[in-house]
Amino acid sequence: MTKKNNLDLNKAVKLLSQGEILAFPTETVYGLGADAENPAAIQKIFEVKGRPADNPLIVHISSHEMVEQFARDVPDEAVKLMEKFWPGPLTLIFKKKSSVLDVITAGLETVALRWPRHPISQQVITMAGPLVAPSANSSGKPSPTKPEHVREDFGDDFPVIEAGETEIGLESTVLDVSQLPFIIYRPGAVSAEDIASVSGVNVETNNEQTNNNSPKSPGTKYSHYTPEATVTWLNEDESMKAPNTLYLLHIKNPDFNTDNVVSYKSNYGQMARELYDRFRQADHMGYSHVKIEPFTIVELREPLVQALQNRISKATTPAES
Ligand code: TXA
Ligand code: MG
Repeated sequence: MTKKNNLDLNKAVKLLSQGEILAFPTETVYGLGADAENPAAIQKIFEVKGRPADNPLIVHISSHEMVEQFARDVPDEAVKLMEKFWPGPLTLIFKKKSSVLDVITAGLETVALRWPRHPISQQVITMAGPLVAPSANSSGKPSPTKPEHVREDFGDDFPVIEAGETEIGLESTVLDVSQLPFIIYRPGAVSAEDIASVSGVNVETNNEQTNNNSPKSPGTKYSHYTPEATVTWLNEDESMKAPNTLYLLHIKNPDFNTDNVVSYKSNYGQMARELYDRFRQADHMGYSHVKIEPFTIVELREPLVQALQNRISKATTPAES
């Protein structure tokens, strides 16, 4: 349903130039945008989300000139990645220019940049200038894939450029290209294999524990993507008939038909698109448990399945505080 605070582009650009924050669609999830050159506006993002100040933000751009504004020492191998995957669901971490605001980078020497491919994100960035944008959810909640998710977290009147459900549904791949080998901090739709073959550089996936207090990518230490319901992996021999339980399956396809059993039949694109909405629905519908069929090594070859595994694993880990 469209709300009165569904912004059009011109209104959105005006609000951003006045130092306001608002939600806008990207192809991954909705972002909570602020003018990347306005520290007071950026501060509002941390307040509204309840985001720890040591968790840096991604700057969203829509041109190569904007890369120059924030990044220095861009390696040739990263240029290949930009040519191949931008605009798209890949965030690149570069050494930062000294002019980049500390509130964006949480004092790190690096800055994260992403050129989203959603036409509305591109338009709003081109008109308003670079935008910092975390996912538009309260800290600790699943990322928003629909305008109503944003308003669940920030209230009915919160300004959103509405554009329906997002295309991918999981956040971008976060890749550090400021050093060798490149390191993936967060898997997403762009895979390690694609990055290695396009860039010709070795790619490692970061295995830092969530309880490490000074990880290279601060976001990895916080609990994410967690509904109120307890999320666990489904055991092989479970009946799928426990009370108050939502089952999310991808291979299993039981012959009984009930609302609380969803089978994706290997459609991992749909599973990724719907995961966070299912988490939120589980809470609305009062389920106490969400049980998810685990992925096999063969299924985990697919990039989206790696991203699903990462987000679900985080949801199964109890919150730090
Ligand atoms: O798909 C996405 O990336 C979405 C849409 C809105 O673009 N944005 C998003 O932002 O997921 P956020 O803030 O929810 O997640 C960004 C992640 C965090 O884990 C943060 O710690 C990490 O990127 N990050 C940002 N800047 C970094 C830096 N300079 N070094 C290491 N990690 C960084
Ligand atoms: Mg987030």
